[in-house]
Amino acid sequence: MHSSQPKIIIAIDGFSSCGKSTLARQVAKELHYTYIDSGAMYRAVTLEAIRRNLVDGVQPDEQALSTLLDEIQIDFHISKTTGLQEIWLNGKNVEEEIRDIEVSDSVSIISKQEVVRTKLVFLQRRLGKSKGIVMDGRDIGTVVFPDAELKIFMTADESIRAKRRYDELIAKGMEVKLESIQKNIHFRDYIDQTREISPLKKADDAIELDNSFLSIEETVQQVIDLFHQKLRELNV
Ligand code: DC
Repeated sequence: MHSSQPKIIIAIDGFSSCGKSTLARQVAKELHYTYIDSGAMYRAVTLEAIRRNLVDGVQPDEQALSTLLDEIQIDFHISKTTGLQEIWLNGKNVEEEIRDIEVSDSVSIISKQEVVRTKLVFLQRRLGKSKGIVMDGRDIGTVVFPDAELKIFMTADESIRAKRRYDELIAKGMEVKLESIQKNIHFRDYIDQTREISPLKKADDAIELDNSFLSIEETVQQVIDLFHQKLRELNV
């Protein structure tokens, strides 16, 4: 692979903890593309909303959220130590903090809000304007980039997803319970699929990929093969 690879948009959507970000990150690395974690953007807004005490009630105050969105700055930087893309909020690295269970518990409520989606979709489109990106999320192939050349919709068994997320957090030294992780995944899937604006659903032209019993390497290889197949179809 080399950096003169033709540039297309690869959209990876799917359920929580399916391994979307691991897949997207590795595909981007292999193709010399930019990886963008759209979920991290929703998490960063949620973190700021928690800091401003906006998530106590069921319905966050729309005006306060709108002010928050005008005031925050979200950037992605490559970490010098890990070489991985990390999210920064208002000039500070929050990559770890946005994975806290407190943020996971509130992120679906915040990402249901129209003001939040409008702003983040705008930022995501701007990040993808030169193509050559792999973006993962829930509505990338349906709303953010409906014309993305390659769309993947990932699924995996719920208990397998919970165990993967649990192992990931335990490996990071966090104290978590498998049961509460599974509950959180179940709850987020429900809200993501049933929300009014941009619900999680497979785009008609997305390719479904169930990775319950696939290794990361096998999943990455499948997407790389689909990428080359797509370039042949597009004749680029
Ligand atoms: O990918 P993730 O689990 O880190 O995403 C966190 C939350 O953000 C998820 O529960 C739903 C929301 N999200 C969204 O609504 N739209 C996206 N494009 C990405 C994430």
